[in-house]
Amino acid sequence: MRTERNASLKPYNTFGLDVTAERLYHLESEMDLVEYLDDPRGYAQHALLLGGGSNMLLAGNIKGSVARVAWTGRRVVEEGDGFVVVEAAAGENWHRFVQWTVDQGWGGLQNLSLIPGLVGTAPVQNVGAYGVETKDSLHALRWMRWEDGEIEEFSNADCGFGYRESVFKGALRDQGVILSVQFKLTTKDHALLTHYGSVAEELAAAGREPSLRSIADAVIAIRQSKLPNPAELGNSGSFFKNPTVSAEWAANLAAAHPSLPQYPQPDGRVKLAAGWLIEQTGWKGKRVGNAGMHAKQALVLVNYGGATANELVAVAHQVQHDVQAAFGVALEMEVNLIGAAPSA
Ligand code: EPU
Repeated sequence: MRTERNASLKPYNTFGLDVTAERLYHLESEMDLVEYLDDPRGYAQHALLLGGGSNMLLAGNIKGSVARVAWTGRRVVEEGDGFVVVEAAAGENWHRFVQWTVDQGWGGLQNLSLIPGLVGTAPVQNVGAYGVETKDSLHALRWMRWEDGEIEEFSNADCGFGYRESVFKGALRDQGVILSVQFKLTTKDHALLTHYGSVAEELAAAGREPSLRSIADAVIAIRQSKLPNPAELGNSGSFFKNPTVSAEWAANLAAAHPSLPQYPQPDGRVKLAAGWLIEQTGWKGKRVGNAGMHAKQALVLVNYGGATANELVAVAHQVQHDVQAAFGVALEMEVNLIGAAPSA
């Protein structure tokens, strides 16, 4: 098992924050995970499970052990009439896995192209984009409990999925690790969703008919045009969730702000576009020192280079404050704050 002492985590978090881990364990197989569990300086001093580092803001140096999910592998589990079940190890890069499924002619994940992170972290927050969520094609997953090393199989229903939510973020938070994930994908009669966002326009502009590949390419093009590449500008995608408010409050807001995008939910509440709210408060493209909100997508908090966690969190808190003051809407962070909470 590969381990490092006082390792910089800069390459392993998409905000590019240069914090250190007292000990970093690169878990490159499930056997490494078992060794980590048994090592007296490993899980016994566990501080953080690190996936793709694309949904966390590391607030300071980490004492103890950091376990990096780095085991990989893919296989076909089952082929049936019109479907295939594929399994990928938790450490597989999400985008490369999705592109592989598209290249095989398997449908279900194409709208989730170019999302940063790993296969094993996608179910944790049920990542979603362009009208599709991980839960829509997730078949089952294997999860190991830290306490006793027992492995359990979860069906889709067991995962408790919701908007950017799952049981792994809720009741089972920090209690175990996802080992591998199975997806049930279509081999014919694919559901080709193009109605969300600008996917249909992107296809029309490219002169292409909807297909798994053309949709994946359109999503990639849209994301590249709006979202900063973490390799160039540190960020974690959407920093806040799109907030949900009561129907009454949504109606008040609609009267005052007719152009505010509203998405009615099945339970009668209404989801609002956080990016729009943030833009209206003047934060789109606004920068305080090295931190700020992205110029092309106001929902994305950006490290313009050398920002500290404190600077990033200060901007996030100010944005929450301004949106609350202007619209009476509370923005909840989608990204996890890890370590000492910096001052507001
Ligand atoms: N908008 C603005 N100003 C902005 C940004 C957005 O007015 O600066 C408006 C847009 O014009 C549009 C609406 O807000 O009417 C929604 O914008 P967009 O389609 O860009 O999507 P989003 O709601 O901001 C969500 C996900 C993204 C996902 C996109 C596309 C959340 C928190 N975010 O963003 O997911 O890629 O939809 O499906 O649900 C992520 O979670 O990290 C992420 C990038």
